[in-house]
Amino acid sequence: MVRQECINCKATYGIDDIVYFCKKCGDILEIKFDINELTENIDIYDWKTKPISVWRYRPFMPIHESAKLITLGEGGTGLHHSEHLGTELCINNLYIKNEGENPTGSFKDRGMTVGVTKAIELGARHVICASTGNTSASLAAYAARAGIRCTVLIPSGKIAYGKLSQAMIHGAKVLQVKGNFDEALEFVFKLGEKHKEIYLLNSINPFRIEGQKSLGYEICDQLNYETPDAIVIPVGNAGNISAVWKGLTEFYQLGLIKKLPKMIGIQAQGSAPIAHAIKTGNDKIIPVENPETIATAIRIGAPVSWKKAINAIQESHGTAETVTDEEILDAQKTLARIEGIFVEPASASSIAGLKKLIKKGIVLENEKIVCITTGHGLKDPDTAIKQSEKPIEVDANIEAIETTLDLRKAILAR
Ligand code: F0G
Repeated sequence: MVRQECINCKATYGIDDIVYFCKKCGDILEIKFDINELTENIDIYDWKTKPISVWRYRPFMPIHESAKLITLGEGGTGLHHSEHLGTELCINNLYIKNEGENPTGSFKDRGMTVGVTKAIELGARHVICASTGNTSASLAAYAARAGIRCTVLIPSGKIAYGKLSQAMIHGAKVLQVKGNFDEALEFVFKLGEKHKEIYLLNSINPFRIEGQKSLGYEICDQLNYETPDAIVIPVGNAGNISAVWKGLTEFYQLGLIKKLPKMIGIQAQGSAPIAHAIKTGNDKIIPVENPETIATAIRIGAPVSWKKAINAIQESHGTAETVTDEEILDAQKTLARIEGIFVEPASASSIAGLKKLIKKGIVLENEKIVCITTGHGLKDPDTAIKQSEKPIEVDANIEAIETTLDLRKAILAR
């Protein structure tokens, strides 16, 4: 039977129990399906005829049949064959799975459509999360769609303006906590503990992870079930890498794909506890006390889903890498200029990481690689403007414009 299960002691809970941490050992939970039951479900539904989107995979979701779906049309994002970037990086078969194409501009929508649908099923009228920006933008939109109250806690310091404007316009109550993301998240857990009427939708919520696993399914579907050799993905709180791996392993267990890719997690150098654990061969992370990076979305020192992430990397024989802010910005600009794909800095870390792994000989020229870019560039316009050529002011006459564009010489030479 489909259930919630502790990743450590394997204690189980029903899918309608409101429980965020295991009551026996305190660890985080995941949704477990019985594979035979799942096989039966997917045989009954005609899922392969539906368009590629999160809800194409409805029979794979722990949501009752009677549920009213809270959806804005999430998933079905492009998997772009990136020949120019591939040539630049000396790799023949590179794909970008661009999650910025989701309704609120990030992969978070995959989790929120399922998470908020579940919240409504459970009768919640008030939802909450802590966020570096994208989770709050997404939750605010889905809560608005569902007609329920939404509170978001954001850390002090810079929050990318695109994301903040989304949470605000959708009517969420935005509290900027005088602390970092990890501290804001602790308050969310405490509020959930004290006020049972508030439903928590951070990435420890396993229903959100279920929505996000559709990212793994989609990559397989879009590649005609020929799995790539590796998937490169930015890592912050570590929910997404775990979710993608869960989707892939389910497709594998169902016999839909014949092999599994390596999972490669990329973190920003100033906030890289998982990458450090992997590089030093440790099974445990050492939290980073004051995480810093220009990629504010992944400025996280104590990722809650670190165990799931380390498991995904180890089980898949993958690895992790760190990238500097400079490398991130360089990758962001390159991707925008030669592929026409504008992503926010955290997203560009997957491209920067890939570049490093190719240089180190860890990723090889003839491998099929999928880089996930997680959020749209307009989320953080300030950073994009700062590293681009400024607009040039010209007089309002054609000659001035032609002179500025160096077109006068051509006219005079005629
Ligand atoms: N990329 C972007 C654009 C993100 O917003 C996040 C996380 C990640 C990558 C990392 O994903 O946490 O699942 O490992 N943003 C969260 C937020 C923390 O609050 O919006 P993860």
